[in-house]
Amino acid sequence: MNLKTEEEKIDYLEKLNREAELGGGEKRIAAQHAKGKLTARERVELLLDDGTFQEIGKLVVHRAADFGLDKQKILGDGVVTGYGNVNGRLVYIYSQDFTVFGGSLSETHAEKIVKIMDLALQNGAPIIGLNDSGGARIQEGVDSLGGYADIFFKNTMASGVVPQISAIMGPCAGGAVYSPAITDFVFMVENSSYMFVTGPNVVKTVTQEVVTAEELGGASAHSVKSGVTHFASTNEVECLRSIKRLLSFIPQNCEESVGEVPYVISEEKRPKLNQIIPANPNQPYDIKEVIMEVVDENDFFEVHQNYAENIVVGFARVAGRSIGIVANQPQSLAGVLDIDASKKAARFVRFCDCFNIPLVVFEDVPGFLPGTDQEWNGIISNGAKLLFAFCEATVPRITVITRKAYGGAYDVMNSKHIGADLNFAWPTAEIAVMGAKGASEIIFKSEIKSASDPEAKLNEKVEEYTDKFANPYIAASRGFIDEVIVPENTRLKLIAGLRMLENKVATLPKKKHGNIPL
Ligand code: HXC
Repeated sequence: MNLKTEEEKIDYLEKLNREAELGGGEKRIAAQHAKGKLTARERVELLLDDGTFQEIGKLVVHRAADFGLDKQKILGDGVVTGYGNVNGRLVYIYSQDFTVFGGSLSETHAEKIVKIMDLALQNGAPIIGLNDSGGARIQEGVDSLGGYADIFFKNTMASGVVPQISAIMGPCAGGAVYSPAITDFVFMVENSSYMFVTGPNVVKTVTQEVVTAEELGGASAHSVKSGVTHFASTNEVECLRSIKRLLSFIPQNCEESVGEVPYVISEEKRPKLNQIIPANPNQPYDIKEVIMEVVDENDFFEVHQNYAENIVVGFARVAGRSIGIVANQPQSLAGVLDIDASKKAARFVRFCDCFNIPLVVFEDVPGFLPGTDQEWNGIISNGAKLLFAFCEATVPRITVITRKAYGGAYDVMNSKHIGADLNFAWPTAEIAVMGAKGASEIIFKSEIKSASDPEAKLNEKVEEYTDKFANPYIAASRGFIDEVIVPENTRLKLIAGLRMLENKVATLPKKKHGNIPL
């Protein structure tokens, strides 16, 4: 090195820093831009507050020597790691650099990520991973596989301790997909990112299916069909913006609550809610209209928007307090609970419970979806996931039944019986074991059969059953509903209820961990 003066030594350091910042070099950076993708550093700069990024491990290089790697050491080794702020709050970040060995993961690349994760766990702040990688660094063999396993292990240890967010901004294939899969939220960018366990070539060899990478594992495949990704963005800038928005609703770690946004309570009645439920109980309406009316500033951040649309989940604020919303959507499959909806809602409920975010449930559910497809694919154990998730949740829990609350779905959707704190019903609520027609056909079977006009008899019985059960008053008389409320007062009731439950303490029986039906 032969650096004698302090000036020479500082110059040398600056040269190293510049070299590290260039990653795989100008040509590869241009190629990255030509694909419509940002570089690892540009992504970090866009996500974090100006000037807050502090890099760790900028001069790390790999230790491999095989296949000529000893002559190709690039400072930083394909991943930019460090910490900084998002809207003034600390986050830890790693951003894979595709210009360096295709962002592939070496032993040292993995060590850098694990170091960041350890710091995040120790200091209690979210971890954000920006993934853009060809997977395990092929030249390193098992050292690279071990590196992945170290990350998976850390992801699992961090689960429920600090929020973990993954954005997929390029390839993410093979076992590499399992780190994002363990994290709490996965973001993808349309037409430039994909995730799959085996790519199109292997798929063709094994199953003879011909499919493109985008079709197999692109943002729309995973946001609509598989549910692996929670958010699909049209470009990287939008994706990074969505991550910031998500962070605004969630706390730093499992021991903190989300900071309240200042809010002055004024006129909180929402008369529009008195006109939302159609006179015909079989007519759909959009539950998001109800959500928008009750939350602050009509601001609802929907999660999993395009997957299992029969249930709606997402974050919002009520009088400045962050809440998680779970709502049946009558506009899609009549709001029925099926396998996908149960899994989607269960995972969301568990996230909110991990991170002290109160749950507000809007219920209009005709029951579970019947059919061989559902039964053979396990609606029993999948529906049980949602039941289990609610039963275990110790955060403040409020339910508003807007219309149907039928059968097992009544129990599952945050009923009083499974630990909800406040259960409201609108006067339009119908709480019963099943719909009036199905119920009448069973319990009045012989009466209907022996009637001179069976159809008229059935109609008469349907009316009788409807009169008796298609309302909230029996449930209210038992105390299963705490209050039947005029819809326009829903927001007021939520404000008061959430404030009342602010210091809720609930504990679960001592155990190692529960055994949720996976
Ligand atoms: C080492 C890699 C690499 C890898 C890419 N590169 N992937 N180097 N290990 N896994 C290098 C390339 O050699 C190339 O170097 C540069 O990165 C850019 O790659 P290109 O192929 O030119 O880019 P592109 O055409 O955009 O294709 C990207 C790609 C492709 C689709 C990701 O590179 C690819 O298929 N790579 C291999 C993917 C893979 O099979 N990975 C292992 C998966 S198994 P030069 O110097 O030529 O520019 C796995 C197991 C994890 O990850 C298990 C965990 C349990």
